Amino acid sequence: MFVAPPGYQPVYNPTIPYLTPIGGGLREGMSIYVHGTVPENTTRFYMNLLCGESESSDVAFHFNPRFDGWDKVVFNSCQNGFWEAEEKIHHMPFHRGRVFEMVITATSHGYKVKVNGKEFHHFKHRVPMERVRALYIAGDVLIETVNVIGGGMGGGMYGGMGMGGMAGGYPGGGMQFGYPAGMGGGMGGGYPGGMAVGMGGGLPGAIMGGGDPGGMGGIGGDYPGANLPIMCGQPDFHPSVPYSIMLPQGMFHRRTVIIRGMVLFGGNRMCINFVVSRSRDIAFHLNHRVREGVLMRNSMIGGCWGQEELELSTNPFVEGQYFEISIRCGRHKFKVFVNGLHLFDYHHRFHSFNEIDMLEIEGDVQLSYVHF
Ligand code: GAL
Repeated sequence: MFVAPPGYQPVYNPTIPYLTPIGGGLREGMSIYVHGTVPENTTRFYMNLLCGESESSDVAFHFNPRFDGWDKVVFNSCQNGFWEAEEKIHHMPFHRGRVFEMVITATSHGYKVKVNGKEFHHFKHRVPMERVRALYIAGDVLIETVNVIGGGMGGGMYGGMGMGGMAGGYPGGGMQFGYPAGMGGGMGGGYPGGMAVGMGGGLPGAIMGGGDPGGMGGIGGDYPGANLPIMCGQPDFHPSVPYSIMLPQGMFHRRTVIIRGMVLFGGNRMCINFVVSRSRDIAFHLNHRVREGVLMRNSMIGGCWGQEELELSTNPFVEGQYFEISIRCGRHKFKVFVNGLHLFDYHHRFHSFNEIDMLEIEGDVQLSYVHF
């Protein structure tokens, strides 16, 4: 199993039942993304947000699809061993034998649940979300990906943001999860511009860039996790394609963009462009030609395309399957990881990469989220 820190990379194929700590508690704006499959013979499964790290801790949020009877989804909370009032929704958004994607977002009012891109239910808080310490998934369900995605924006657009850390153990000690220009704040602050969060261990060095030889040294570089990727804000869930968004503050060293989606069946192509909006130069163009199994990289500067880069050890994009691509800006190159593994680097041709201020995604792709 590939384990990654919350807010950055998902956990893939965890064994069920699965319990993962959400250190620091939940805060408004944090989301839990789950991609899974409901087995053909399912009866029930559930996801609990626990106020402790044991299965028997109080449950702030119980989400329980039941197929054994009239299909329904039960929401509840459980305190001191007693279940409270059930909220039953007699509509089943899941289907036996089918893949699903769901997102639970903590809001100031409660937990907003979206299944397969559609709003499903908003369960009002009964227990303060700050008490939540873990996520527990059990019952008849297969989980391909779980990702605890952190953080509301603290104090203005570029404010540092809070992020729950998982029990430590990673040699890097923590993940810098703020903005260079941001403010400290939240827990464990005190690092220049933002705050550190702990994270679970067992991570292959490559994805986190620990000891990255490619000159991805951190800002200042003298605190734990200094060379780890930077993301901020909340992801854009299920945006439509073509997708185009301005990158606030432009591209900068260590900024990381994560795109999760699915290559559509029968699709032809998918493009990701990092654009300088002022000049329409495409600093980094990534074009997946599905039929040919090619992942072409190029730049268009001053209206002219350059030399195509094509080398690839494997092509991890498969029709009808989810992918997760993470693109991290280094001083000399973009580092591209797909499904948690380093796939290729793209040396900057457009050297003033901080002028890149726009991201575009187009083609035969369905997006689950974009996070940067
Ligand atoms: C109980 C069930 C629990 C939980 C609870 C929710 O009947 O045994 O697993 O789903 O309902 O109210």
